[in-house]
Amino acid sequence: MSSEIELSKEILIVSETDAKGIIKYANDDFCKIAGYSRDELIGSPHNMVRHQDMPKAAFKDLWDTVESGNIWKGIVKNKTKDGGYYWVNATAYPSKTPTGELRYISIRVKPTKKEIQDAIELYKTL
Ligand SMILES: Cc1cc2nc3c(=O)[nH]c(=O)nc-3n(C[C@H](O)[C@H](O)[C@H](O)COP(=O)(O)O)c2cc1C
Repeated sequence: MSSEIELSKEILIVSETDAKGIIKYANDDFCKIAGYSRDELIGSPHNMVRHQDMPKAAFKDLWDTVESGNIWKGIVKNKTKDGGYYWVNATAYPSKTPTGELRYISIRVKPTKKEIQDAIELYKTL
C-alpha cells in the first residue's frame, strides 16, 4: 500500500512553470517532499507528480483560471517518486520573468483534515 506523507506546518512547497507547464523552478521543500532532485524536476512537465486519484477537471479548472490571469486555489493530491502521496493546499497564479516571459507559480501548504475530506468527497463527483 502506498503511504501518505503528512506535511508539517513549516513546509512551503514552491514551483514555477513556463506557459506549457514545464517546471522551471523548484524549491528545497518540493524536492524533499516529492523525493526528486532539482535536476529531475527542472525541465519536466508538472504532471510528473500527478496522482491518479486527481480528476482531470481539477487541472482543467486550474489551467483555465491561471490562463485567464486569475488566482486558483485548490486541494491537490500529489504522488512522490517512490509511489507515496501527499496532500497540499495550493495557490497558483500567473507571473512574468524580468524579461517578460510568462510563468505560473504555485505555493503549497499543509491542508487541514477537513479540507482533505471535503476534496475527497468533491473529487468523487467530478
Ligand atoms: C503552476 C502550476 C502548478 C501545478 N502543480 C501541479 C501539481 O502540484 N500537481 C499536479 O498533478 N499538477 C500540477 N499542475 C498541473 C499540471 O500541469 C497538469 O495539468 C496536471 O498534472 C494534469 O496532467 P495532464 O494535463 O497530463 O492530464 C500545475 C500546473 C501549474 C501551471
